[in-house]
Amino acid sequence: KEIIHFEEIDSTNNYAKKIANEGCRDGTVVVSERQTMARGRVGRQWESFTNEGLWFSIVLRPDLEPEYIKIVTLAAAVAVVEGISEVQGIVCGIKWPNDIILNGRKLGGILTELSAEPEHINYVVVGIGININQDKNSFNAEIKNKATSLRIHTGETVSRVRLLEGILTGFDRIYSIMLQRRTQEIIDSWSGYSVTLGKEVKIVLKNTEYIGLAQSIASDGRLIVKCNDGVIREIAAGEIQVR
Ligand code: BTN
Repeated sequence: KEIIHFEEIDSTNNYAKKIANEGCRDGTVVVSERQTMARGRVGRQWESFTNEGLWFSIVLRPDLEPEYIKIVTLAAAVAVVEGISEVQGIVCGIKWPNDIILNGRKLGGILTELSAEPEHINYVVVGIGININQDKNSFNAEIKNKATSLRIHTGETVSRVRLLEGILTGFDRIYSIMLQRRTQEIIDSWSGYSVTLGKEVKIVLKNTEYIGLAQSIASDGRLIVKCNDGVIREIAAGEIQVR
């Protein structure tokens, strides 16, 4: 497996997209000790300092149609949870679509970026950030009460290399399930780790909000919510708050 390592880069997702455009191999991994312009979902910034976490991106070239992209993201979240569980013995939860949750706080996140034609995927960059060795005072004011790290939970310094290996191994397993289009197995694994399903959620869209019960995941990866106005909606993207 090819792993490209940096001390510093703007964003591993940016570099991964660059080498994907230049034709790098399926499964190439880009990891950096720190990132100067790491991006989170919905245009947010992502703190990524040296030694504090695992910041990496995987370039995938799945032979799949673009409608599988949400399932690829769910699969990545499952791989992260299984990798952490394997190496660290801690079972995290997943908040839809792909926040990694420990003790009700955010341990990690995934930013998936897609390049596709109408009929097929060119490449997918799966960017994964996991908070590892921060202590309580490391986080900025905005995320202080929402974020956590493996060290805060275990009280120990955690090996980032072992964790990366564990996650990449988990990823290989679930990626081969993915390539066989066995999407229901991925949805079932994801659902087993979910902290969203069965809960009341608030869905925040651009111009509206809905409150409802998160029921299940549709076959294309959307979240099925029975809203308080009686309408069942399938949510493709956006922010949800679990209440
Ligand atoms: C989120 O908002 O929850 C997603 C965060 C994703 C952060 C990772 S760190 C490695 C990769 N490079 C980036 O710029 N972002 C992702």
